[in-house]
Amino acid sequence: MAKVDLTTKIGTLIFKNPVTVASGTFGSKDEYARYLNYERLGAIVTKTVTPKPRKGNQMPRIFETPSGMLNSIGLQNKGIDDFIENKIPYFKKIKTHLIVNIAGESIEDFVALAKKLDREKSVSALELNISCPNVKKGLEFCAKPELTYEVVKAVKDTTKLPFFTKLSPEAHDFLGVAEAAIKAGSDALSLINTIRGMAVDVEKCRPQLANVFGGLSGPAIRPIALRYLHEVKCEFDIPVMAMGGIMTAQDALEFLIAGAHLIAVGTANFVNPKATMEILGGIEGYMKRKGYASVNEVRGSLRIKEASEDRSVPAG
Ligand code: FUM
Repeated sequence: MAKVDLTTKIGTLIFKNPVTVASGTFGSKDEYARYLNYERLGAIVTKTVTPKPRKGNQMPRIFETPSGMLNSIGLQNKGIDDFIENKIPYFKKIKTHLIVNIAGESIEDFVALAKKLDREKSVSALELNISCPNVKKGLEFCAKPELTYEVVKAVKDTTKLPFFTKLSPEAHDFLGVAEAAIKAGSDALSLINTIRGMAVDVEKCRPQLANVFGGLSGPAIRPIALRYLHEVKCEFDIPVMAMGGIMTAQDALEFLIAGAHLIAVGTANFVNPKATMEILGGIEGYMKRKGYASVNEVRGSLRIKEASEDRSVPAG
């Protein structure tokens, strides 16, 4: 069979394939370049960039859990000016989309970041991180629809760059928050950020993380991420970059079938730095085996009604 078409379109952006990386799991520049050719990815999503450098939280700030990982990094990064001066020139040479994840403590922070990145030709899109569970300020933006609306609208009014808004599964009114982001002009959503969790060292009788809580990622949260994706796709016509425990091609396909435009590999990168490439190959193999010519045929192919009919109890 001829090559399958993996091209994925979101607004005016055309991605060569739907496989990307989740923010914060792929280094901040060339750390993974000896394992894979970045140009084979549909996009690169950077670690969060903030207005000023941040040292991050106290160590220990990573802890492995059954089928997952807790992290409480705390948005460690060297700040936007360093990013523009020292990271962007590297990414400029790489022929794939660069999506810059940004976070701030105030609306003004988000606006200032968007303004600076708007001038950078090699940036394709932004991802607004309003859902990091490891910082004292900033998480409130995804806790209430009104606040989500305000920050997203302010960014929309500032930049022509398309952007994703990354939401937290911890928002009480998750669909309300998603709706607010869409109404305020977010071009797409990123679902989901990590879920706060905790682990205890029983010998020392103290938390495993210095910050006590950390964001849980990995396969443990995959069914939750899928559920949120499905709920959003049932309610809204909005492209989604999906993340949450995608380790294999089969996992990625679950999200594509449930309607994701892009799938972002996160925790898997720490276990297998070539995971994205294996997933990409696996998606192609599946499409060939099933006779799909384009990934657009896979996206949203979930058959809910038939599934419930198949399983219904025969009458009489
Ligand atoms: O703590 C961190 O740097 C994680 C960020 C996030 O989950 O958004």
